[in-house]
Amino acid sequence: MKIAIGCDHAGINLKPTLIKFLQENGYEYTDFGTYTADSCNYAEYGEKVAEAVAFGGYDRGILICGTGIGMSIVANKVTGIRCAHCHDVFSAKATRQHNNANVIAFGERVIGSGLMLDIVKAFLTTEFEGGRHQARIDKITEVEKKYSK
Ligand code: RB5
Repeated sequence: MKIAIGCDHAGINLKPTLIKFLQENGYEYTDFGTYTADSCNYAEYGEKVAEAVAFGGYDRGILICGTGIGMSIVANKVTGIRCAHCHDVFSAKATRQHNNANVIAFGERVIGSGLMLDIVKAFLTTEFEGGRHQARIDKITEVEKKYSK
């Protein structure tokens, strides 16, 4: 599984914990930045990761900003992205099972590293259930197509 990760300056302290987890568990990943604590625009890095997942052959994306909100908003503007803004394990599992979420966004100012890793594990290991949920995702795709001109 290929994973794209990214953060802004407000997510820079949590990202090394994420990287260590991915390395230790043998995940292939690319870090799309930012790489320093200098103030930057979360939308730039959210877009890079979302593009990598939608068009670049990456299977999942993981984003970290201050709240996770800005990153999730921008990621969800990219065609084909279903980004879940998620701070608990139950929602992380459910968004894989029901929404087939391909990107997840966290806020470093909201959660600690232990909870983040539990959420990441759930996000990376839970399968989409398909069935009735596929029809609902098809409707989301329909809405996306309707408004993308
Ligand atoms: C940066 O201050 C902050 O606005 C950003 O990381 C994020 O929380 C935006 O949604």
